[in-house]
Amino acid sequence: MSKLRGDYKSVWNSLSGSKQDAYLYVAGYTDEDKFHADAEDTVDILRETVGVKAEDVFLEIGCGVGRVGRVLSPFVKQWVGCDVSANMLRLAGRRLLGLENVKLQEISGYDLQPIPDESVDVVYTTVVFMHLEEWDRYNYVREARRVLRPGGRFYCDNVDLASKAGWAVFEESLRFPPGDRPAQISKCSTQPELEAFLRHAGFNDVKVAGRLDFWAYAWGRK
Ligand SMILES: C[S@@+](CC[C@H](N)C(=O)[O-])C[C@H]1O[C@@H](n2cnc3c(N)ncnc32)[C@H](O)[C@@H]1O
Repeated sequence: MSKLRGDYKSVWNSLSGSKQDAYLYVAGYTDEDKFHADAEDTVDILRETVGVKAEDVFLEIGCGVGRVGRVLSPFVKQWVGCDVSANMLRLAGRRLLGLENVKLQEISGYDLQPIPDESVDVVYTTVVFMHLEEWDRYNYVREARRVLRPGGRFYCDNVDLASKAGWAVFEESLRFPPGDRPAQISKCSTQPELEAFLRHAGFNDVKVAGRLDFWAYAWGRK
């Protein structure tokens, strides 16, 4: 029987049984140099939105194999990588070996329960919301607010259904009959959806933007 999309732990552990599979499901390729270059790009977006400061504790929801953490951690006080999959975290541990300000944390797939209230300066999540149900996306936005210190910043992104390339992602998956859709199939968002999540969760200074006619992203402040 195919797995349920919302059983994130089982779905994502089975997609990351080997290093090759984990890389492919994280990024669609296995080339380490491209991984690094793409992560630099993600860090640039974080700089332009929530900002990156040397005194910040950063937390990533759905960190995968630490693609972003490896590039970001030298610029911040601490980087905490959270993921639902123990396999992903094991691979992240190997990739991040020797980086002393890095911590990895397994989470349930629905919340940030092991993380104390008001203990983090920036929470971000990238290339993750497309794999979650809308309610689980929103719950992570609420959880991000809980763990952020007052004034803390939050960033999230997803493929934008309203963009040309985002629509192509949607259309491409029309080929799956309802019973055959992979559990991790990408489901797009829109800028208004992300904005609504941040506003309802109580974030201030909420902003949304798009990029490369593909991404929708939103950020705000507690
Ligand atoms: C496409 S990968 C992106 C990884 C990383 N953010 C990056 O950009 O390189 C999606 C990641 O989200 C994780 N994930 C999936 N569902 C999750 C959930 N409900 N809670 C936390 N992590 C989840 C997966 O295990 C995987 O590591």
